[in-house]
Amino acid sequence: MLWILGLVLCGLLAGTRADSGALLRLGMDIMIHEVQSAMEESHIMEKMAAEASNPQPGGKAIKGLTNMKVKDVLQPVITLNFVPGVGIFQCVSTGMTITGKSFTGGNMEINVVLNITATDRLLQDEETGTPMFRSEGCEVILVNVKTNLPNNKAINKFVDSTLRKVLPGLMCPAIDAVLVYVNKKWTKLTDPMPVDKMGSVKYALASSAATTASHIQVDFSPVVQPQKGQVIRLATDGLVPEIPEGSAQDSQLLLSAAFITAELALLQKSLEVNLKDKRVGKLPQTTGTLAGFIPEVAKTHHKPKPLLIKVKISKPPKVTMKAGKSLMHLHGSLEMFAARRHGKHPKSLFRLETHFGLEIHYSVRENRLQMATSLDSLLSLSRESSSIGDFNETELTGFITDCLQKAYIPVVNDVLHVGLPLPDLLAINYNLSELNIVEDALVLGLKME
Ligand SMILES: *[C@@H]1O[C@H](CO)[C@@H](O)[C@H](O)[C@H]1NC(C)=O
Ligand SMILES: *[C@@H]1O[C@H](CO)[C@@H](O)[C@H](O)[C@H]1NC(C)=O
Ligand SMILES: *[C@@H]1O[C@H](CO)[C@@H](O)[C@H](O)[C@H]1NC(C)=O
Repeated sequence: MLWILGLVLCGLLAGTRADSGALLRLGMDIMIHEVQSAMEESHIMEKMAAEASNPQPGGKAIKGLTNMKVKDVLQPVITLNFVPGVGIFQCVSTGMTITGKSFTGGNMEINVVLNITATDRLLQDEETGTPMFRSEGCEVILVNVKTNLPNNKAINKFVDSTLRKVLPGLMCPAIDAVLVYVNKKWTKLTDPMPVDKMGSVKYALASSAATTASHIQVDFSPVVQPQKGQVIRLATDGLVPEIPEGSAQDSQLLLSAAFITAELALLQKSLEVNLKDKRVGKLPQTTGTLAGFIPEVAKTHHKPKPLLIKVKISKPPKVTMKAGKSLMHLHGSLEMFAARRHGKHPKSLFRLETHFGLEIHYSVRENRLQMATSLDSLLSLSRESSSIGDFNETELTGFITDCLQKAYIPVVNDVLHVGLPLPDLLAINYNLSELNIVEDALVLGLKME
């Protein structure tokens, strides 16, 4: 019976990936880094010591100990363990010296080493839906207690029981205060982030964040919204890409090819370059160069004239990924013009339908995914119209390739320069990511400084 239950459970777990958008896995390294930096940012240990030394009216004091001060708080050592389905079990090991006047009137000093343990349950913020932690079952475990008082059973028992009474009230709020800082770093997660002026991307959650034995997993169903018009739907054909095996402990972000394709649809219009657009400028070739391939051109253009090109993109760019290689497919038309003098409109020579593949080189800068392209291959070329009569367009392959490389690719790279936003959480610095192209996805291995 148990194995049937096991199969059912595995099936359920495997089926939890609803979307093929983006997936984030946070390993222990990131979580420890976050809790540690939250402790430092919150100055919680110093605050706690100060508060204990200046008890508020109504605050707990150690009975029989006056003028209490807490000092020499040891640098806390944090250990975390993932609790599948629950969250994180947290242990903060620290120590401190408590001083004061004892009931006998003498100076008393207690050196205490302790562990504070709690379960940080992973929940969803009710308003925003973003992940958040709430601590439960906080306990203070005394590891070692030393006093300057005579080593006397009654005194030891007294010190021990007073510490047990007082310390949880002192230390457990500190754990909560640290979580406030950690939780704050999730709040911007689902805010829309701009992609140039063309639209925005919102890392909406596909389901609530989950804890496994080795990770916190956040499954996204990203919303790609153009400035005007309908949300761009992610293509759901094909298999849901997976983070490769063999890196169980690491923190990773997976971005599917379907998601990057949807984001690039925002930039489709920008990839169309207009004749008047200065960025295109003059092509390095003239009608003279062209005449070398199409003799007809020489008949109509005796003197070499600069060439101008107009690129139209007829379909949203499509991104494909195979292990180690990613291509952007562009479908559209290239119209070639010869410049004319006296401010006359350039003359259209011919228009070609084309499909070409650009290889994408990914990198990360300023927490954005950057892409630069280079021409991979001209996949098809067919003549659509011509004012110079019939010619064999296949003869133009080399010439068109050259035009794309010299005049059009720089434009594409300029457009892509805006970068694509990455999920904003836990102040992750994506700068140090290791990028890896796998089947249908880009995987960023997240590294801490
Ligand atoms: C206190 O915490 C440390 C670090 O997690 C652990 O090694 C030690 O066993 C704990 N001590 C007690 C008494 O729980
Ligand atoms: C990423 O690294 C660059 C240079 O290495 C630095 O200028 C930039 O500030 C870093 N960005 C972040 C978010 O740390
Ligand atoms: C066009 O040119 C190509 C390459 O030079 C050649 O293989 C092809 O047969 C030509 N087609 C026609 C219709 O002439």
